[in-house]
Amino acid sequence: MAYALAPQSPKLVLVARDSHRLQVVAKHCQKLGASTFVVPTDVSNPEACFEMIQSTISKFSKIDVLVNNAGMSMWSTVEDVQDVCQFKQLMEVNCLGSLYCTKFALPFLKKTQGRIVAISSMASLTGVPSHAVYSASKHAMNGFFESLRIELAGTGVSVTIIAPDFVQSEIHARSLGADGKPLGLFLADHDSFLSAKACADIIVKAMARRKRLVVTSLRGKLGRWVKLCFPRVIDWMAKRGVEEAYRQK
Ligand SMILES: NC(=O)c1ccc[n+]([C@@H]2O[C@H](COP(=O)([O-])OP(=O)(O)OC[C@H]3O[C@@H](n4cnc5c(N)ncnc54)[C@H](OP(=O)(O)O)[C@@H]3O)[C@@H](O)[C@H]2O)c1
Repeated sequence: MAYALAPQSPKLVLVARDSHRLQVVAKHCQKLGASTFVVPTDVSNPEACFEMIQSTISKFSKIDVLVNNAGMSMWSTVEDVQDVCQFKQLMEVNCLGSLYCTKFALPFLKKTQGRIVAISSMASLTGVPSHAVYSASKHAMNGFFESLRIELAGTGVSVTIIAPDFVQSEIHARSLGADGKPLGLFLADHDSFLSAKACADIIVKAMARRKRLVVTSLRGKLGRWVKLCFPRVIDWMAKRGVEEAYRQK
């Protein structure tokens, strides 16, 4: 997303935990035309999120857009998970991290009639086997951002929820397995997933148009209607989708 936005010469605040990799991204964004500010932050820490927003204001005076993108994944059945602390970790990063950043950025977003973007998932719209905790964290995100959108009516601040289908990224290899360790393997279908660039282009366009919800795949769009009319069919589709994607290469 940073690379997709950089040619518009924005002021980009780049946030994640790995400062070295953020610096690499920042350098490339600068070459493409952006001004950058790197703020290494663990979004599961509310104080760190508060500091990140404050240092953003000190540096650039305002916030036009907040993109809640940080996330992690887990592939395991609920029964197989060895330590319930993993549930907490996923909720803290995927859900609470977005809530903290949004809460602290809100006064500044109201001043600019800005945009909030929540990178959720197709797993926020229906249950996904072996992905229950991830799916729960993303359902929670949607509940928060849909409620916030209503609270913000009339303020000029928009809330855009993005529900991507599978995208090529590092998230799959970094996913926690039943033992809490990264799985370190790509899903079998990884090469057929939407590229990160194509997904970023979709998100940038949705953000500019202040869309409410964007589902990136046809099966995701169809799935919403199937779920309403034939709930057992969507369960079968989710099971089949996971079985197809989740075969070790
Ligand atoms: N790829 C997919 O198939 C897919 C599908 C649907 C939705 N999504 C969602 O898309 C978003 C981006 O994921 P991705 O696919 O691009 O995965 P990714 O390649 O693993 O990137 C995840 C990003 O989040 C950052 N991050 C992770 N934990 C963090 C923490 N505690 N604090 C701050 N930053 C943290 C990571 O940087 P550090 O490790 O340096 O912190 C990294 O920049 C996630 O919310 C994910 O759930 C992805």
